[in-house]
Order: sequence, then C-alpha cells, then structure tokens
Amino acid sequence: MCGIVGYVGPRPVVELLIPGLARLEYRGYDSAGLAIQQQDSIAVIKQVGRIADLEHALSLSPLPEGHTGIGHTRWATHGAPNTINAHPHRDCTGSVIVAHNGIIENWADLRSELIAGGHEFASDTDTEVVAHMLEDLADLPLAEAVRSVMKRTDGALALVVMRASDPDLLVGARRGSPLVVGKGDGENFLASDIPAFLEHTRRMVVVDEDRVVEITKESIRITDLEGTELPLEERVIEWDLEAAEKGGFSTFMEKEIHEQPRAITDTLRGRIRRDGLVDLSELGLDPERLRIVDKVYVVACGTSFHAAMMAKYAIERWVRLPVEIDIASEFRYRDPVLDSNSLVIAISQSGETIDTMAAARYAKAQGCLLIGVTNVVDSALARESNAVLYTRAGPEIGVAATKTFTTQLVALQLLGLYLAQVRGSRDEGSLVHLAAAVRSLPKLVEEALQASTDIEDISQKFAHTRDVFFLGRSGDFPVAMEGALKLKEIAYLRAEGYAAGEMKHGPIALIEPGVLVVGVATDTHVRAKTISNMQEMKARGATIVMVVERGHEQEAEEVADHVLTVPPGPDLICTVTAVVPLQLLAYHIATAHGLDVDKPRNLAKTVTVE
Ligand code: G6P
Repeated sequence: MCGIVGYVGPRPVVELLIPGLARLEYRGYDSAGLAIQQQDSIAVIKQVGRIADLEHALSLSPLPEGHTGIGHTRWATHGAPNTINAHPHRDCTGSVIVAHNGIIENWADLRSELIAGGHEFASDTDTEVVAHMLEDLADLPLAEAVRSVMKRTDGALALVVMRASDPDLLVGARRGSPLVVGKGDGENFLASDIPAFLEHTRRMVVVDEDRVVEITKESIRITDLEGTELPLEERVIEWDLEAAEKGGFSTFMEKEIHEQPRAITDTLRGRIRRDGLVDLSELGLDPERLRIVDKVYVVACGTSFHAAMMAKYAIERWVRLPVEIDIASEFRYRDPVLDSNSLVIAISQSGETIDTMAAARYAKAQGCLLIGVTNVVDSALARESNAVLYTRAGPEIGVAATKTFTTQLVALQLLGLYLAQVRGSRDEGSLVHLAAAVRSLPKLVEEALQASTDIEDISQKFAHTRDVFFLGRSGDFPVAMEGALKLKEIAYLRAEGYAAGEMKHGPIALIEPGVLVVGVATDTHVRAKTISNMQEMKARGATIVMVVERGHEQEAEEVADHVLTVPPGPDLICTVTAVVPLQLLAYHIATAHGLDVDKPRNLAKTVTVE
C-alpha cells in the first residue's frame, strides 16, 4: 500500500526523496507527492499518476532547495486516486504536513467534529483529519501533539509529520502499518520500508507498535504514547536491495502468502461492530433494496471464480437465496435470465478484467443490482458497480493470486453474513458466532502458515510427479480448485480440481501409481465422505495427501501418506485457512523445479483481452 520516505540532513532533499519513492514503487500506488521545508514555510507538490509524472510536474514548477522533507506514494483507500487526494496533506494554515499509510477507522467522526470546529477540508481522505487535529494542538511540542492524535485515532497508522515552526524535525508514529528509521551520519531517514534508504545507510531502527519517533539530523528519539523514552535497538541490514523489497522473502509470492494475516486484518477492519454483527453500511445500499433480491449471480474469472464458488455455498446456506455462479466469459454470452430483483456480484481483484467487466456492464444494463468486489480503488469495476466492497490486500506483485484470493473469501463471507442479517434469514446469535469466526481468521491463517517448512519437505518428494488431482466437497471444493490452479500456474503440472464425489464418474480412470491426489476435508458435514473417496484413490495406487482440521489427523492417517493440518473453525469460513497449505505446496513444488513463481510463463496479472 502507501509508501513514505522522510529525510533530515545536509543534502538537497528532492534528490533523495524521488529515488526513495521509486524504491517503494513495488508497494503499488496511484499518485505521489513531496513536502519540503523552507525557511518559515513548507512547500508541497503532488501529482496523480507515476513518479515520472511527479518529476514532470517538478520540472515545470521546481521546488526551492531544502534539506528536510517527506515523500509519499498513495494507494487509494478513502477518496479517488487524484491529485487533491494525493499526500502529503495540510492543515488549514499550510504549516502542518502529514503523510500517512493505513486506514483511520474513526475518520468520519473526527472529520465532522473538526468541521464543526471551523476546519476546512481540501480532500476526501481519512488522512487529512490528522493535519487538522495537529493544527488544534499547535501549542504542544510536535511529538506530544502526535501522541495525542495517536490516542484519538483507531485503525492502522504510520504517520510522518512536519511543522513549519519546527525546522529540521520529522515526527513519525506507528500502529499497524510499518515504519523504520534509517540511521546515517549527520542525517536520518524515516520510511515505510528499508529499500527507501538502503543505498545511503545499512543501519536501521524498527519503530514498534504505538511508538512515536522524532528524528533530526543528529538524533533519533523513540517514546511510547505516554512520552516515556525507550532505548534504541539498532540493527545492521545484511540484505541487498532486491531482497529488501521482498522483505527478506525470496520471492514476492512467498512474501504475499505470508502477508495474508495482515491483509485479512485490513479487510476486516471496521466491518464487524462491537455487538459482533457485520456492518457493511459502507456499501450505501438501502436495506429494502437488498430485501427484494430474489436471486443472486456471482461472476468472475480465474482465482476470483473460486471465491465465487465459496460465495455460492455461503449465500445459499446463510441467506437462503438461490445463487448461480458463472465464469464471466460464459455469463455474458449465455443469455442469463436477469431482472431488477437479481443481485449480481462481480469479483475481480484488479477490477479491470475485460470478461468480468463485460459481464458487470451487461448485468447493470438489465437493471440488476451490481456489487463489485475488488482490490483496486476506483478501478473500472468499482466505478461501474452500484456498490463496492473493497478487499484491502494491498498491491499483489506475484502474478498468481494469493492474498487477494483469501481477502476476497473474507469479504464475501462478510457480505453473506450482512445479507443474512438484513434479510433476517438467520438468528442474531448464529450470525454473531459466525462473524466471530471470521474475525479470528488472521490468527488461524498465521497458524496455518507455520506448517510451511513441513510442506517444503513434503514437496521435495513430489518433485517428479506429473499428474495431480485436488479433491474436495462443499466448502472444500473451491479450495481444491484453487489448489489445482496454483499448481498449474506456477509449477506447470497437470493438475485437476474435482468435486470428490464426481471422480467415480470418469476421472478415476486416470488414477494409477505415480499420480498424486490431494484431498481437502475440512468441511465437517462431508469429511467422512471425502475421506472414503480418498480410499478409492488409494486403492488404485495413488499417493495421498490430506488436508484436515487439527484433531482429525488419525482419520486422515488411515488413508494418507502425508497429512497437513489447519486450525479448526466453522464450515465454509475454514476455506480461508484450508487454501494456505495448498498455496505453499504449489509454491514449494515450483521452487523445487527452479521456476520463477512471480512471473509464470504465458500468464498476465490483469487480462484486458477477451
Ligand atoms: C488472470 C490472473 C489470475 C486471476 C485472473 C482474474 O488470469 O493471472 O491470477 O485470477 O486474471 O483476475 P481478476 O483481477 O479479475 O481477479
């Protein structure tokens, strides 16, 4: 998501901030900006688009030289990607400057309060509230004012601020979003990530949760929110630049797989109320509009289609509405029966896939209610939809979808629970119970990730396997389909995802020694049936891997050569955890073959052709 870099020192700051921002490009962004401290004021320049667009704007109206400044790349969450919403943001007087990475959950309340107090807002962002709050605290030392802001804001924040009245001082703060200090000689840096300053210094200090940091060119001071000074723990960075961008992981895909707990936390943020019920009032849909829906269609492509499969099971079970799912390229040409009582949910992480967009436009033209689920703010799908539900996975660089998939599953689970609540199809107690399980997913996924090393070991054994089946029933069926797709995409193996009960109607003819069959059996009400289907595979000589919930290892061991466990949880919600070992399996098999998992052959991240 957003990237921040700040500098205090003797060097001309623009020449440091622009390359620093370029090193953070991998985080994804849609606009960029700089703020440079002058004698008694702060100059700001912002530009929608790429860093090259910002450089072009600078060439037309250069900033005066300065030695303290902040640069920011924005990945839109609140407010469209445009120049006004680009960071840094200012207070009413222009003397307080703020760059932010994250989401301020209570921004709407804070904004109303500040407007009532006479502040005027220039942007639609959540960030701008911080500048105006700091304006009201102009009498306090800047770090103390930032501590006070931190106590009044909820959500994820990494802030870097400066004030015209405090030359050569940057104050940063962190909760939820990353922030690191680069320690130089007679100069210091503050950034979202190490690559922003790695060519200038290898010495760094991590800013921990709920800490405020003050940097000048000679000093670094970290305090907690009460103002107590804390010792600095300096580290030396051993990685090179490329490794640093990958956060110490060897590929972006591996990094993104491991980012899933954080991505899911962000996707959940602010969407489950204190009383335990889901709140998607952000969709801006009249509950009455949702109550007249009599049929649901879910359309998507690729991995997003597997999220659609899970959505079908969840909406049918929780909302008791009939749901049809379609591959978008089929939907648009098959003349589906749609009317104004139909709800069409279009899922696309990029929000640009041409087939999904065509299906969405077709549905809207038929008068359907269109809800878009996407990871990209203001994407074509977001603009086309009557309501948008954003996943907040952050940019995904690896071509094969991982964190965008699991956050789609979570977003769709929230949507299913919200529809059930609005339509009264389930009692509140059971909705609260299910929402609590969704809320626990970051922790459960974290636990599922801990099996990575075991899966790596097992994967070595399958390095020469050519044919793989992934089988599951009910909520495990989309998981099996996704496991097979991941293996096809990045390891180039012939892999088929199948409904476990369907194997006997044909594909079982392909089972013989040497074939690997991965059975997913986390859905409680069909577990025994899936396991007995796996017996049928074993009897024909297949090698068996089973994915089951912890506590069911024994049943699985009776059939499987290898058992992978995931933490237990309610049916359907567990799809999110069950897919993690399959992502890891595909990843480790592909890397055992020495393949480039981030850029698989023949594939594009966003497909804008039919
Ligand atoms: C491409 C990608 C897949 C992705 C699919 C749908 O084929 O390689 O990983 O699942 O597009 O993309 P979307 O952006 O619509 O979710």
